[in-house]
Amino acid sequence: MPEPATALIDKHGRHIDYVRLSLTDRCDFRCVYCMSEEMTFLPRKQILSLEEIYKVAAAFTELGVNKIRLTGGEPLVRNNVMSLIENIGRLPGLDELLLTTNGSQLKKMAGPLRDAGVNRINISLDSLNAEKFKAMTRTGKLEQVLKGVETAVAAGFDSIRLNSVILRGVNDHEIIDLLKYAIGLGINIAFIEEMPLGEISDHERMDTMVSNEDVKKKILEHYAIRPIDMNTAGPSRYYEIEGEQSKVGFISPVSHNFCESCNRVRVTVEGRLLLCLGNEYSTDLRQLLREQPENTELLKQTIIEAMDIKPLRHYFYDEEQPQIVRFMNMTGG
Ligand code: 5AD
Ligand code: SF4
Repeated sequence: MPEPATALIDKHGRHIDYVRLSLTDRCDFRCVYCMSEEMTFLPRKQILSLEEIYKVAAAFTELGVNKIRLTGGEPLVRNNVMSLIENIGRLPGLDELLLTTNGSQLKKMAGPLRDAGVNRINISLDSLNAEKFKAMTRTGKLEQVLKGVETAVAAGFDSIRLNSVILRGVNDHEIIDLLKYAIGLGINIAFIEEMPLGEISDHERMDTMVSNEDVKKKILEHYAIRPIDMNTAGPSRYYEIEGEQSKVGFISPVSHNFCESCNRVRVTVEGRLLLCLGNEYSTDLRQLLREQPENTELLKQTIIEAMDIKPLRHYFYDEEQPQIVRFMNMTGG
């Protein structure tokens, strides 16, 4: 048996080689499915410094993690974030550096991000109608995000994917327009089912949930799509579109269970190592980063031991009661 590439193996035999790091809980948008209108963000001393985040990233790569995704909140609104991204981009052993963004800063940052070694980016885009976009993000400007998307396309990332969360009665009539926009730019698009993360004030989630089966049916009225074998070990399933370069993905965290092949963990901006998106199993890394900042071995040992509490699966709905109290911006997409 060859040595596993990663030192991180959980009790269920899953190899963890992918980490998602949240760089901030803050965001310049207030998307209705993600945040409440009035959000309180974490006080500065509670969040990891850029240096602490770097240490966490370095520890994971030393343990065999070869793929890191930077998330938020909106990662690009954090002060001096480019220097952190450049440093993470230089970590030995890292094959892929990925970023999830709302696109608001991409007009100026897409080029530098590409230069820093970011391979792929996901950009959230739920509507192509300026008013609807404003209503869904509460503060976002569509024009600015579209410019960001186009700048990113020109910057030549390995791939770009739009993320669209579809809500019934809100933007479900835009599925085909969003898909056409992606096809026109030769980039991918994923439709995401809304997840029950955090108490929100805007709508009852059970009323707005659109299943990916419904989205797929709608698309099939206009395009011939065929499933492709693109193993993401995650909740996305990809389809090719006949005659087009773009692929369309469906992300079903609620209705599809992908836990048996899960290869990932998350670190919140407070330094909580979350073993599973769907529940609260976690280990605190912040205290140890602060009490023994130079003790890399202890950091690595703590991460290794945390793998033992990675649960076999998640339960989003427990007797129809959302179980999760964390907000998406705290969790890191
Ligand atoms: N359910 C599904 N997707 C969500 N996102 C944020 N909150 C939720 C939620 N409750 C999406 C964003 C972004 C990605 C990181 O997660 O739109 O595309
Ligand atoms: Fe910000 Fe993303 Fe949440 Fe929207 S979904 S408020 S862009 S973190």
